[in-house]
Amino acid sequence: MARVFSGIQPTGTKHLGNYIGAIRHYVADQDKGEAFYCVVDLHAISVPYEPAALHENTLDTAATLLAAGLDPARCTLFVQSHVAAHAYGAWLLGSVATMGELNRMTQFKEKSTGRDSVSADLFTYPVLQAADILLYKADRVPVGDDQRQHLELARNIAQRFNSRFGELFPLPEAAIPASGDRVMDLQEPDNKMSTTRGTPQGTVLVVDPPEVVARKIRSAVTDSGREVRRGEGKQGIGNLIEILSVATGEAPEAIEAAYEAKGYGDFKGDVADAVVELLRPIRERYLELRADETELSGILERGRERASQVADATLAEMLDAMGFRVPPRGG
Ligand code: TYM
Repeated sequence: MARVFSGIQPTGTKHLGNYIGAIRHYVADQDKGEAFYCVVDLHAISVPYEPAALHENTLDTAATLLAAGLDPARCTLFVQSHVAAHAYGAWLLGSVATMGELNRMTQFKEKSTGRDSVSADLFTYPVLQAADILLYKADRVPVGDDQRQHLELARNIAQRFNSRFGELFPLPEAAIPASGDRVMDLQEPDNKMSTTRGTPQGTVLVVDPPEVVARKIRSAVTDSGREVRRGEGKQGIGNLIEILSVATGEAPEAIEAAYEAKGYGDFKGDVADAVVELLRPIRERYLELRADETELSGILERGRERASQVADATLAEMLDAMGFRVPPRGG
């Protein structure tokens, strides 16, 4: 059976870009094989973070995924740090990854530029990401466009491991959506939407109250023209067209045609209404899940059990292939 795997960081609350580029595809991919979704809290410590908030942020992210439609009966949702094989596997794969390829990672360059001190974890981050994917022998990895290079690296690591130690890993494919793979900041439409590096007003959070969602969209930056069209110099409007297209299921061309005789005001009002309705049920379910931790903890505990079974078995195969002879527990 095919295996689906994806990971999401518990840094900040998840935004519309995460939802459109990744989370809604996690939901669709639950039935494309056995699916594993992981809140990657170990990755979150690669940049400065608040220890007191780590656990709550992890629960927030898990609750957002469930509220968006992940169904624990159809997928395994778990927390990376709960399955020790991830850190262990990353160390093993670090022996086949090279400094040269890690040096070429554009996300490392983006995240390290301008910082006084850069952690070693930020540099080796993609090796842990490769371990996440390979421990589940995943074939399909739903992600947004910004993860393309990390996925390419995970494939290279898998390929090198297989040729050096024997065939163990299938080569994972990045499943990047044809549209909505790169939602832009509403205030700075040349930059992708991001809670850590975007503008607060230009970032719609999945759990923002409806009036906040509407205000952020209505005040989105557009160009000085009037036409609701995509194209050169129209990044702001193009971004909103793409968002509306995802929210309503209408093709971007049909949206352009429908607004031919209308101005930006009507258009932005309609985008705001559509996104409010898209996010409303997710926010409601999220608040329920966060009001009582019992259900959420139970789901993550069952997720930990299933994820550990699979990851521990792969880790044992990796150790064996690499020449280790680890005695069985109690042996
Ligand atoms: P993260 O937590 O930054 O983002 C989670 C997912 O959201 C997508 N995404 C976007 N899509 C469209 N437009 C945007 N503006 C936007 N911003 C983010 C990301 O592409 C991602 O799919 N390194 C990963 C986490 C990770 C992982 C993994 C992913 C760790 N291990 C194994 C896949 C497989 C990350 O930081 O995602």
